[in-house]
Amino acid sequence: MATQVPCGVRIAGCGSAVPEKRLTNADLAAMMDTSDEWIRQRTGIRERRVLDPDRGESQLWLATEGLRTALDDAGMAGSDLDLVIHASVTSEMTCPSNACRIAAALDAQPAGAFDLVAACCGFVYAMNVADSLIRSGRYRSVGVVGCDAMSTAVDPTDRSVAILFGDAAGAAILVRDDDPNRGCIHQTMNADGRTWPSLFIPRASSDLPAGREDSGARMGTLRMDGREVYKFAVGKFREVIEEALSTTGLAVDDISQFICHQSNIRIIESAMDKIGLPAEKVYVNIDRYGNSSAGSVGLCLDQLWKAGKISAGETIILVAFGGGLTWSSGVWNV
Ligand code: UT7
Repeated sequence: MATQVPCGVRIAGCGSAVPEKRLTNADLAAMMDTSDEWIRQRTGIRERRVLDPDRGESQLWLATEGLRTALDDAGMAGSDLDLVIHASVTSEMTCPSNACRIAAALDAQPAGAFDLVAACCGFVYAMNVADSLIRSGRYRSVGVVGCDAMSTAVDPTDRSVAILFGDAAGAAILVRDDDPNRGCIHQTMNADGRTWPSLFIPRASSDLPAGREDSGARMGTLRMDGREVYKFAVGKFREVIEEALSTTGLAVDDISQFICHQSNIRIIESAMDKIGLPAEKVYVNIDRYGNSSAGSVGLCLDQLWKAGKISAGETIILVAFGGGLTWSSGVWNV
């Protein structure tokens, strides 16, 4: 019987895509009862990017462009991939998966392809799954893309959610490496499904939690109990990072970047404050892109990668929380 040779995982390239169209706080204030000052103070967001359907832009297009740029960065073609994992809550259809259509657009067949739904944790979950599949010895190269077009899933007149979200894709190409210490050295994927009514997208009125008053926003758009999710996120961010550090025996000084889901600047700053994370190690782009759900962590990763802020030999931590409610981390030796 052949003996399995232990292997590691290398990030061969990163990519991202955002639509050109900007939606500023002033644009939103002209559409609903809100203000630039309220949005900036409560969330840290100045503007976000949104799809322009008049230009033929769609979630599928955005995700495909994100993964295409990651392949370019890695110097690889779609046909070099064994598997495509696409994380999203805003795919156009449930069947086929958008992963299959992204793989087709990039000429990756017969690579396996599947969608993964873990809301804002989608990219971190997908990276963890991809790392484990490569380490299993079954796959050599996996394209991971997290992408959400939240502009298609929020009621544009519902100020409790419309101000928070934007559209983006973030991607990475992971390949087998001979060094078993390279890649994801620690990962967590957690959920507490009992808390699902804090954040969900009902397709029909029968999906609404029994006995709870609905906002009346149209079906197919997000309901969120912002205060509940906020409390959950502040606690989990700290817990997840501290658990990752204590399990790996690493200190804050050993980590070059803490790449956190861009949910709300106050949530990120609270984690920085409580754990003592220095500002130069916590990348923030929520001011320009808002909360892009499954797109957010991959977008940050790519922007840091392209800026030369992540080098081989360094250790980074990816952290996210979101609908489900879910929370997840990955400690990566790059
Ligand atoms: O990615 C994972 C998913 N989501 C999150 O991470 C979101 C987590 N939650 C949050 O980021 C925050 O809860 C929000 C940004 C959504 C809301 O901020 P908040 O500080 O929790 O505001 P709030 O819901 O407690 O509302 C405070 C006040 C309320 O008025 P009253 O009752 O005090 O008179 C709201 O009606 O602000 C009002 N309000 C607004 N005012 C102007 C709520 N939304 C708006 C708005 N503009 N857009």
